[in-house]
Amino acid sequence: MSAPETAAPSVAAELVRRLFVLLKAAAVYGPNNEGYRSHSAEALGTLSVALSRTDAVRIEAREDRLYFNGAPIILPPGEAGARFLRAEFRRCGAGGFEFRGARAALELDAFVFAFIGGGIRPERSLEQTAKLLREAGVGAITPLAPADEEEGSLERAREGEHGAARRAFFQAVETAADIMTRARAGQEPDIGGAKAAAESLARQVVADPQALFELSILQRFDEYTYAHCVNVSVYSIAIGHRLGLTPARLSELGFGALFHDLGKARLPRELIDKPDALTESDWRLMRRHPALGAEALLAMRRPMDAQLARAVSMAFEHHLGLDGAGYPSLAPPRRQELFTRICAVADAFDAMTSGRVYDKRARSPDEALRRMLQRAGTAFDPLLLRIFINTIGIFPIGTAVVLDSGERAVVSRNGEDLLRPDVVALAGDGGAGNASSRRAITRTLDPEEHGIDARRVLRERGSAERELSLPSA
Ligand SMILES: [Fe+2]
Ligand SMILES: [Fe+2]
Repeated sequence: MSAPETAAPSVAAELVRRLFVLLKAAAVYGPNNEGYRSHSAEALGTLSVALSRTDAVRIEAREDRLYFNGAPIILPPGEAGARFLRAEFRRCGAGGFEFRGARAALELDAFVFAFIGGGIRPERSLEQTAKLLREAGVGAITPLAPADEEEGSLERAREGEHGAARRAFFQAVETAADIMTRARAGQEPDIGGAKAAAESLARQVVADPQALFELSILQRFDEYTYAHCVNVSVYSIAIGHRLGLTPARLSELGFGALFHDLGKARLPRELIDKPDALTESDWRLMRRHPALGAEALLAMRRPMDAQLARAVSMAFEHHLGLDGAGYPSLAPPRRQELFTRICAVADAFDAMTSGRVYDKRARSPDEALRRMLQRAGTAFDPLLLRIFINTIGIFPIGTAVVLDSGERAVVSRNGEDLLRPDVVALAGDGGAGNASSRRAITRTLDPEEHGIDARRVLRERGSAERELSLPSA
């Protein structure tokens, strides 16, 4: 393994920054200017890295953010690049741009100068922009139409429904991004910002846990590590709430969870992003992250308080396991504190359902819970695990199921009766779902085996619901 690549943001965030700098430079300098050339080389490098992982890169503006191949890009607070690109896309009548294959990299300079229009920045329609690029010989970089009106309004309606939950969730992801980015650069986290983010997250989880579970399970970001910290925070707060913790304690719990994997910022980037299974030597390194995280928190200059001390314990103990058989291995064994035992349940569930940490295959939510139940009493506190299942549901959001009508469906929300959650029936299954009677679930399905994309089904449920009469809440 090579030396740690410190302070490296995600490829998507990096690409936004590089394009921003490049477009700014192109508005002032010519294509042969030395300054422009060096920015161009850097942008090219980042674009090539992005294109080495996928056939095409789409950068799009929707609402108030940028998306990278459909996943929201998380940028450090105060990042000017995103605002600039969104405005520039609008100016060109485009929702964004697609960069296709190796040829896109070769055409980058021609694209930039055609796009920027000699620094004059004229307003253009989408057609004019497309024509201009064609005339400049750019064929592998194409403008994308602005987000579909209907799709946009559907999205907005759904966002409006859970507006406060979404805002708290996205704010927390940005905070987590800031924490991890600073840690990679050897800087101290913004503790005040993290406290505020945890507090509003806690308020939202208490108000509507299902709205937050939906975001935690379904929302995908360009960088998983940040979302993971927030998801663990959401699940932890939900468990704590069921335990009857006070709002102040819930904020502390959520705060600690945001930092539980801080130590990963001290590990090589390639290890964290590794797409393959970890080798034994990878594991030796990976097992150091609890101690590294605790160390980083203890090394901060600010005075230690009870909240920070709890975060230190959570970072250090979260992989110990209830029986102490996990890591780091300690003699004599140490008993996990309550907050850590809560965090460990939340952590395992998110890691398993995301398929991005340790185990590279994403488990369906119900399978993750089954696997965790097998380790109740050894790895996990059985009482806390039971509370978690009571909170998130026996069939959590995103679970693929078969109804007693024979229809296949995806769970969209849990209510009082955990055996009868709200579901979205799959279009094309032809079942005559009765709108008034609620269907029972006969069994769960392995979504992969049955080719069910639960995320997609729930995302597109607005149109599906119009076609099918569904068991209503
Ligand atoms: Fe961890
Ligand atoms: Fe974790």
